[in-house]
Amino acid sequence: MKRREAIKLTALATLGVAVSAQACPSKGSCQTDSTKNRNLMTPKDPKKLTKGELKHTPQITLGDKDANGYTLVEITVGQGGIIHPSTQAHWIDFITLYVDKKLVGTTELEAEISRGAAAFRVKLDGAKYVTANAGCNLHGIWASTVTL
Ligand SMILES: [Fe+2]
Repeated sequence: MKRREAIKLTALATLGVAVSAQACPSKGSCQTDSTKNRNLMTPKDPKKLTKGELKHTPQITLGDKDANGYTLVEITVGQGGIIHPSTQAHWIDFITLYVDKKLVGTTELEAEISRGAAAFRVKLDGAKYVTANAGCNLHGIWASTVTL
């Protein structure tokens, strides 16, 4: 009986380690969402962004359309020459892309080794707009939209 319980506990502990390792593959992603600011942020005056707003607002650049009809959509976080920092304490941890209201891509970013940038190839035929969201662990989620 004791041996069976020991095997069961070992199996559960192994499973726990595996789940934990998957949820926290590296140092930069070990913060839980409760430690990140997940508030949706909006600029006070969209026509006159402050430095902090420029630093967090995703910039969307549309590129070429490939032979299969996928358009390059590049997103960088920071505008007007201001680049958002990427340190263990402060970084852009994700970028998502929506075409109209449909989620078409998301990327999770590690602190320090990467910064707030992502690129996607998407079909935009008939679409009305693209929206990018970028999440700063300290300063919330920021969005930009480009009308097509
Ligand atoms: Fe930030």
